[in-house]
Amino acid sequence: MSDRYAVIGHPIAHSKSPQIHSAFARATGQDLEYERLLAPLDGFGSTLASFAARGGRGCNVTLPFKEQAFAAASTHAGRAAVAGAVNTLIREGGRWHGDNTDGPGLVRDIVANLGVPMTGARLLMLGAGGAARGVLALLLAERPERLVVANRTLDRATALADAFASHGRLEARSPDRLEGAFDIVINATSAGLAGELPRVSGAMFAPQALAYDMMYGDSETAFLRWAREHGAARGADGLGMLIEQAAESFYLWRGVRPATAPVLALLRGGSEDNFPLAATGPPAGENCPPTP
Ligand code: ATR
Repeated sequence: MSDRYAVIGHPIAHSKSPQIHSAFARATGQDLEYERLLAPLDGFGSTLASFAARGGRGCNVTLPFKEQAFAAASTHAGRAAVAGAVNTLIREGGRWHGDNTDGPGLVRDIVANLGVPMTGARLLMLGAGGAARGVLALLLAERPERLVVANRTLDRATALADAFASHGRLEARSPDRLEGAFDIVINATSAGLAGELPRVSGAMFAPQALAYDMMYGDSETAFLRWAREHGAARGADGLGMLIEQAAESFYLWRGVRPATAPVLALLRGGSEDNFPLAATGPPAGENCPPTP
C-alpha cells in the first residue's frame, strides 16, 4: 500500500497541495497518496487522530489550524517553535513532529526563483498576523538592511517586533507612516480575501522593487495590480511560495528534494512566471490564502 499523506484545513477544496505533491511523487518515483481532509472548525484534533489511525505518515496543515497543529505536535523544529505555528506534521514513533516550511518557501521563491537578494535589501512586510509571524525569523536570518512591519493595528506590529527581538531588528510602523523606499514589499495581510487592499502610501517602492503577494489567484491579485500602478517594477504572487514550502515538506517526509520549476510551470498552465508585471490584466479574481 502507498504511504499516506494529506492536507487538513477548513475550507480545503481550493488546496492545490494534492496536485503539487502528486507531481513531486511522479517526478521522484515515490510511492505515495496525498488527499484533502476537511476538518470541522472544532474538529482538527479528531481529524488528525483518525488520519493517524489510518496509517497517515505526514500532513500539511492550513488555515485555520496551524496553531492547533503546533499544539498537537509532541516535538517541534526550531523554526516552527519561533513561528508558534506548524504547517507540516511528520509521524515519528507514534507521535507527531511539527515543522514550518512557510518561511523557507518564501525565502527560496524570492531569492532563488525570482533572483532578488534579501541580504542588504530594504524589506517591508504588510501585515502582522499569523502569515507574517510564520516567516519573519527566516527573513531576519537573511540579514536585510531593514525589515519594517507595517500593520493597520500598530500594536500587533509592535508585539511582533518585541517577540522577534532576539532574532534581529524589526521596525513596527503604521502603514500611513512609512519612511524611505523598499526593495521588496511583501503583502502578508488577509485583506485580499475580502477584496480589499492594505492601506499604505504608494510612494515606497524603490526603483526595481519587487512586490510580492503571499496570496495567489487565477488572475492578478488586487495587491499586485495596485503595486503595478504605484511604481513596483516587478510582481509575483504566492504560488511560487506554495510550491517551495511543499517541496520542503516533501523533503522532510521523503528525504528527496523535488525540482520545483516544472510544477510551477504546470500550475501556471505553461507560463512559468508572472513578472515583470503585465501591462494589462483581468480584474482580480478570487484569491487564495497563503499556503498550503
Ligand atoms: P493570517 O493568519 O492570514 O495572517 P490574521 O492573523 O487574522 O490572519 O492576520 C490578518 C492580517 O491581515 C492582520 O495583519 C490584519 O490587520 P489587523 O491586525 O489590523 O487586523 C491584516 N488585514 C486584514 N484585513 C485587512 C485590511 N482590509 N486592511 C489592512 N490589513 C488587513
